[in-house]
Amino acid sequence: MAPIEEFAPAKVNLTLHVTGRREDGYHLLDSMVVFADTGDRILVEDSEACAFAVTGPRAAGIPTDASNLVLKAAALMGAPRATITLDKHLPAASGIGGGSADAAACLRALARLLRRPLPDFEAVARLGADIPACLEGRSVRMRGIGERLEPIDSLPPLPAVLVNPGVEVSTPEVFRRLSRRDNPEMSEIPCNMDTPERIAGWLKTQRNDLEGPAREIAPEIGEVLDLLGARPDCLLARMSGSGATCFGLYPSAAAAKRAAAEISGLRPGWWVRPTLLA
Ligand code: C5P
Repeated sequence: MAPIEEFAPAKVNLTLHVTGRREDGYHLLDSMVVFADTGDRILVEDSEACAFAVTGPRAAGIPTDASNLVLKAAALMGAPRATITLDKHLPAASGIGGGSADAAACLRALARLLRRPLPDFEAVARLGADIPACLEGRSVRMRGIGERLEPIDSLPPLPAVLVNPGVEVSTPEVFRRLSRRDNPEMSEIPCNMDTPERIAGWLKTQRNDLEGPAREIAPEIGEVLDLLGARPDCLLARMSGSGATCFGLYPSAAAAKRAAAEISGLRPGWWVRPTLLA
């Protein structure tokens, strides 16, 4: 039988408000999450034993032992006899949910292989706060620590550029450096969000509360935001998740491609991808 394949798209936090903290130390978030058309791939197939391999351009340094979220996800499905391959394209520890996307894709693939239902969101959120949103796989407003999801239906695809300067940022360290944990929630999403200009206009009135602490750890983030924002057609430049990946929004896919080409030319070592966010 051919392997079952699932796409693991990068997630982007268009906003990320830190609104409180639970007794167990996890932070309460209010975030608008969308997905890119770039990502990793998970392949699963029947086999004699449980096996895991990582391939692809970003495989170096990715753990293949039980610490990998993909294997933790497989354990939630009963660690079945299957060969799981992760084809890695996204930079690790970079604020676009690569590990969570991989875990969600693994859950989807194993559910198909085993013809079993997916585990519930509570169990999944304990593995990683972004995994429920990645299982949903479409634009959502995410609250709680990541387990409370509300679909957002009104958004058109947003032309964007993702840029990562090649520094890994530790998420717990970014949360630790927050000076406030009781910031206001996101305001209600308006209903006229029908063009990139209107969406960016509203997003500018919202925030990513993790941007400040992440920039203290990785000053390169400031350079990424400056380069994205330097183009006159950039509608908004902001960091995703706990960084260091940032996104720029543009009025058209052609404008996003031009921006990506220009930034790649200036910083050949950086990971730069034009994409559509949806
Ligand atoms: O769950 P995830 O792997 O995204 O989180 C990594 C770390 O970030 C957690 O162990 C926790 O320290 C911090 N975190 C948090 N509140 C959240 C999500 C993550 O404090 N809602």
